[in-house]
Amino acid sequence: MPVEVATRVLSADHDATLAAARALGDGGLVAFPTETVYGLGADATNGTAVARLYAAKGRPRFNPLIAHVADLAAARRLAVFNADAERLARAFWPGPLTLVLPKLLGCPVSQLATAGLDTIAVRVPDHPVAHDILAALGKPVVAPSANRSGHVSPTTAAHVRGDLDGRVDLILDGGPTSVGVESTIVACLGAPVLLRPGGLPREDIERVLGRALADDSSPSGEAPLAPGMLGSHYAPKTPLRLNARSVNAGEVLLAFGADAPAGAKTLNLSVSGDLVEAAANLFSHLRALDAVGASAIAVMPIPNDGLGEAINDRFARAAAPRP
Ligand code: TXA
Ligand code: MG
Repeated sequence: MPVEVATRVLSADHDATLAAARALGDGGLVAFPTETVYGLGADATNGTAVARLYAAKGRPRFNPLIAHVADLAAARRLAVFNADAERLARAFWPGPLTLVLPKLLGCPVSQLATAGLDTIAVRVPDHPVAHDILAALGKPVVAPSANRSGHVSPTTAAHVRGDLDGRVDLILDGGPTSVGVESTIVACLGAPVLLRPGGLPREDIERVLGRALADDSSPSGEAPLAPGMLGSHYAPKTPLRLNARSVNAGEVLLAFGADAPAGAKTLNLSVSGDLVEAAANLFSHLRALDAVGASAIAVMPIPNDGLGEAINDRFARAAAPRP
């Protein structure tokens, strides 16, 4: 159990953003909004702060963190960009894309944050609060999703507080996040490989690359290229029943589209069948239905194109057997 601290929650205005940068510079842990989900930040160059971050989340230390920077110029001080990485960064940064790249010689990010790997995950978030913190600090910030390890990712400051109150120094409240699922992770170490479907659809990436993205072929839960992609992750307490077209007694329903079966407590990801809206609602609806204490959450089928790939990935993990 990490040392209990007093957690401040501040509305993410200009002064709070500067206070956040100062707290990070002093080795503190600060949760802040990005366009995908809330992140729990620590100064990536401060090994002690990074160690505190792993403890606060209860995160296994073999699972490396994403370094967040303000712009491409700052990313070039951490990692080596091949031609594909260059093209993707120019097309999609700032935005919900993380690139896994060879670590630059002399990269200032703590070894603990990269779990001793010779690669590093880098991202430039597209959110004014995240950007202003990174610009004010002038250093990379490692920021996993601001939840306890294994829990559903937070899309509001209240979600963060529920998981991490007493474990982090500061939470900046910037309202609900717009994308709602974590960034897409692509490794550019040779031919580009999709490590985690996320907030940037595969189709957009393939259009810019001019070819198909390979999938991470390592067996789920064993030694995936993205070590955090363990089978059971993003897990609510209530079991999920996927591809449900009807609701059983005792179940609640996570619906999608206009023709949801009636009769149970229901939250709809998108009545109009919009996958962007569905991604934005995904984690808050899962948390709300989990709190009901139903026998299961019945989940209606979601198409697998666009953001549907990331949504279905999170459902599959949430429904996977628990370790
Ligand atoms: O949208 C996001 O990416 C959010 C926001 C806060 O930026 N962050 C996030 O971080 O989702 P986290 O720690 O929850 O997920 C990071 C994933 C993990 O699966 C981790 O294993 C993988 O990135 N990862 C980090 N460094 C890696 C590396 N060098 N090689 C392969 N995978 C890596
Ligand atoms: Mg996470």
